Amino acid sequence: MKIQTTLLLLGVTVALHAAESRQYASKDWPATSGVEGTHYSTLLQINRKNAAKLQKAWQFDSGDEFDGSEMECNPLVLDGVIYATTPRLRVVALDAATGKMLWDFDAHKGQQVKGKQRNRGLTYWGDGDQRRIFVGIDSYIYAISAKTGQPVSEFGENGRLDLHEGLGEEAKDLTVQATSPGVVYKDMLIQGTLAAEDLPAAPGHIRAFDVHTGKMCWIFHTIPLPGELGSETWPKDAWKSIGGANSWAGLTLDAKRGLVFVPTGSAAFDFYGANRVGDNLFANCLLALDAKTGKRVWHYQFVKHDIWDRDLPAAPTLVQIKRGGRMVDAVAQITKNGFVWMFDEETGKPLVPLETRQVPKSEVDGEVTSPTQVLPTAPKPFARQQLTEENLTNRTPEAHAAVLRQFQSVISGPQFTPPSLKGTVMFPGFDGGGEWGGAAFDPKSHILYINANEMPWILRLVPRVVGTEAMTGSTLYRQNCSGCHRLDMKGSPPEFPSLVDVSSRLSRDQVKAKVVNGGGRMPGFGRLGDDFVKAIVDYVTTGKDVSLDGAEHQKKLSYAGLKYGIDGYNQFLDPQGYPAVGPPWGTLSAINLDTLQYVWKQPFGEFPELVAKGIRNTGSENYGGGVVTAGGLLFIGATDHDKKFHVFDSRTGKLLWETELPSGGNATPAVYEVNGREFVVIAAGGGRRGETHSGGSYVAFALPPSQNRSR
Ligand code: HEC
Repeated sequence: MKIQTTLLLLGVTVALHAAESRQYASKDWPATSGVEGTHYSTLLQINRKNAAKLQKAWQFDSGDEFDGSEMECNPLVLDGVIYATTPRLRVVALDAATGKMLWDFDAHKGQQVKGKQRNRGLTYWGDGDQRRIFVGIDSYIYAISAKTGQPVSEFGENGRLDLHEGLGEEAKDLTVQATSPGVVYKDMLIQGTLAAEDLPAAPGHIRAFDVHTGKMCWIFHTIPLPGELGSETWPKDAWKSIGGANSWAGLTLDAKRGLVFVPTGSAAFDFYGANRVGDNLFANCLLALDAKTGKRVWHYQFVKHDIWDRDLPAAPTLVQIKRGGRMVDAVAQITKNGFVWMFDEETGKPLVPLETRQVPKSEVDGEVTSPTQVLPTAPKPFARQQLTEENLTNRTPEAHAAVLRQFQSVISGPQFTPPSLKGTVMFPGFDGGGEWGGAAFDPKSHILYINANEMPWILRLVPRVVGTEAMTGSTLYRQNCSGCHRLDMKGSPPEFPSLVDVSSRLSRDQVKAKVVNGGGRMPGFGRLGDDFVKAIVDYVTTGKDVSLDGAEHQKKLSYAGLKYGIDGYNQFLDPQGYPAVGPPWGTLSAINLDTLQYVWKQPFGEFPELVAKGIRNTGSENYGGGVVTAGGLLFIGATDHDKKFHVFDSRTGKLLWETELPSGGNATPAVYEVNGREFVVIAAGGGRRGETHSGGSYVAFALPPSQNRSR
């Protein structure tokens, strides 16, 4: 009977099957980025007809914000309870109808939290009466009871597991954090991690842990051990000293197939790879792993031997597309350089047309770039691909002249133009193109929604080791710190904090502890030894420049022996601080994945002070993704400067409603229903740039109570 139906209605049966395999979020928002990374909700009480009547339903103020803090958390919503994190990484449970706090969990109770650690969400696991929330804080994963907010003592050691587990002796003191949540498959928590950007950095191996005990169940080596597949793409023994190839942006699970999709980033050090000659598998890959065993099913590498920090920036999206009259289950991945890639979920076969390009060769001593790289020819990139004289800013004649002078002193080429000592323009920049907010997919229309940045940056290599030159606090600073905090110590906030006047914020001991241990994307420098650390701390906190023995320093650096570092993470801006490229500076795109054509594309975000002068629709930097709903809406905050929460008609891109948040909504919203009422909630944490102030609130919107039943 079944077979006959299949024979008679082959196309239809296949289509039904593909559609049936997806179970989308209904009343709850059970996973960060939505079910299967789709950012999709089936709710439709709020829809095109009534979205203009939205109003604030409640606001929860954590009071946890501090100077420069951010909130990137896409909260979970289960059975009328919201689980979310605050700027100092307290976990809170809120009544989803009122925003009233039910409990909080504070891993740092009684301690001052200074350094900031990102958190993009939480993971839920439930079995009968047992319900747990997993959260990454410092180098740990905590398991806490969803009911009480208390740590679950049987998990790891007193409720937490150490993320150094299984990474080897070399990684024991290195930064490992879970800034994006893992996924739960059966009784396992599968987790990726953040690592430092410079050496020494921990390897980014993917691991599964038992949800009951925290015991490691499997490990996949993203930097293969000797004899493992991919080890031939590295120098021998590189696995001992190279770090990174980590998955910081989050994973996506196909529970039905038992496949977990893992986007990885570049190997450390990000910008100079003389010590890692080769393609460097499994850095910059989309990996399909067997969720049960961690065994590789397929992989695709997006950048060979990455020296541009082209991490895959977002958890991939599981989609269904029409191909040759059939429905195909596919996985879509957006990239920092502005492309949408798609692969057959089961085979890994690319489902977008590809082109192999010859790319420029590096002139830098010791660097061996890949002669070719591959890019899709459709869909067309969602961000511009090259900074040229023609597309430099014309905001004012003075701004144009200033950026033109600087432009003429650096190298600007097509994608994969290598870093240089002269300075190379990165466009789209280090933060995309596409970023960690990720894409939203409407399974009815097969449209993918992507918000993107268009900001050029200048990447410049500088010599790191200075022969036998006398070593002083300032030379040590130049060699070890200026790559991120810049020679003038101004850093590139918020990613890399300014150290100007650091002693007014941190005690000498706190600065020393940060230098020794590192934190987040900063490696620790304990290996330099006490006298060198002391000289650096003196220099940073007081400007005192002590002389030391240079030869001894060389020895201490021999772990990497890398000749070049960078002079900082520098955006290419005009003298007033606007991007060196002409607008749009941020965009929102809707792409039909069946046809690979754009449905619409428009600037996204504005600068209030330019709007006041009548300059509109410039677009602006934006971080945090959108949510698309069956009600025909795209909900998205994200824009840094105007702090707005926007509701668009998903079909046309028309703005239906917007409101200003207390601080920038640099996070993906969650859509849910409780007591028959649909809500959308977003973290308002701001703080992305010096000029956007930090907040600590969650704000929820809904229709006025009387409107609830209108469809
Ligand atoms: C690879 C990039 C990188 C390098 C190299 C680096 N840092 Fe950092 N640094 C960071 C980041 C990212 C943070 C913020 C993370 C955090 O606070 O946990 C930070 C934070 C700090 C802070 C705390 C600032 C504050 O306001 O809380 C101090 C102090 C500091 N770094 C000093 C140094 C010194 C001194 C060196 C050189 C020995 C150095 N850093 C090298 C990236 C780097």
